[in-house]
Amino acid sequence: MKEKLQHILKSFEEDIKKVVTYDDLEKIRVEYLSKKGYIPQIMPMLREVPNEQKKEIGQLVNSVKNQIEDELKNTKQMLDMKEIEKNISNSEKIDITLPVDNNIGSLHPRTTIQKEIEDIFIGMGFSVEDGKEVETEYNNFDAVNVPKNHPARDMQDTFWLDNGELLKTHTSASQNRILRKYNGPLKAIFPGRCFRNEALDHSHENTFFQIEGMVVDKDVSVANLIFFMKEMLSLVFKKDIEVRLRPGFFPFTEPSFELDIKCPFCNGKGCSTCKNGGWIELCPCGMIHPNVLRNGGLDPEQYSGFAFGLGYDRLVMMKGNLNDIRLLNSGNLKLLKQFGIK
Ligand code: DAH
Repeated sequence: MKEKLQHILKSFEEDIKKVVTYDDLEKIRVEYLSKKGYIPQIMPMLREVPNEQKKEIGQLVNSVKNQIEDELKNTKQMLDMKEIEKNISNSEKIDITLPVDNNIGSLHPRTTIQKEIEDIFIGMGFSVEDGKEVETEYNNFDAVNVPKNHPARDMQDTFWLDNGELLKTHTSASQNRILRKYNGPLKAIFPGRCFRNEALDHSHENTFFQIEGMVVDKDVSVANLIFFMKEMLSLVFKKDIEVRLRPGFFPFTEPSFELDIKCPFCNGKGCSTCKNGGWIELCPCGMIHPNVLRNGGLDPEQYSGFAFGLGYDRLVMMKGNLNDIRLLNSGNLKLLKQFGIK
């Protein structure tokens, strides 16, 4: 029986070498392992083997059977690999002579600028917070000191939902939630999409973007605000920026300022970007109103802070030399090309 087994194994080794197709493989499997195959057929002979050899021969049968199974499996894997290689070299081949499609897409220039600004703030120790687009009336208005019937509500008409919520008109809508989250000192920015229901023209869009910032601590002063804004804007414009503050009015800050920068494109001499004025109105800001701190759960006797709201669509427009804000939401490919995006 031993010789018979060795003979079977030897002829199997020869047969398996000749396998080229899955059919060949299946034929061999049937020949050796199916019910009428060589291995099952040899089993009854085990009965005739003398008892003292049964163990040894039994083990031999098993090991030959295992070897045959293993080799069938390996050969199947080899055929699979060949099949894949064949597919790659035939139908799935990439034709590198085809013309290249240059329209591969990219980030919107606004997103690129937003990420740059976020990085600058992260470098200054700020956290970047998420804001919501659908907000409560309370967060958007009341919490930032704009009660019902306040005239400032007229300037920020928006889109109202049936459930009484609204599309936020400014990133200041997140101030309350963030004050409550930190309940103490904080340095945070929160970029976001804002909405207003207003007539559109080259400088007004119903959908635009702001980055709001807040710094809250003990003894924060206007001096801190001015120093900080100058540093931050110099990093954004990658050059030393001169700032000037004019008095402004916002219900959520007291005092409130309109912050202008000396035009970084003409150094204040006058050009089309600064409309020959030499200065660009850029970033409203101010010291956070005590009511806003109180609504956020902080004691204004203990804490103070400043806030600002940077409409960075303006920055994108300056960078791309655009004169119409509506282009930014237009999906116009020519516009992207203007930013060097293919
Ligand atoms: N929320 C204001 C707006 O959209 C912008 C603003 C002004 C934000 C002054 C501030 C601020 O944080 O201090 O018109």
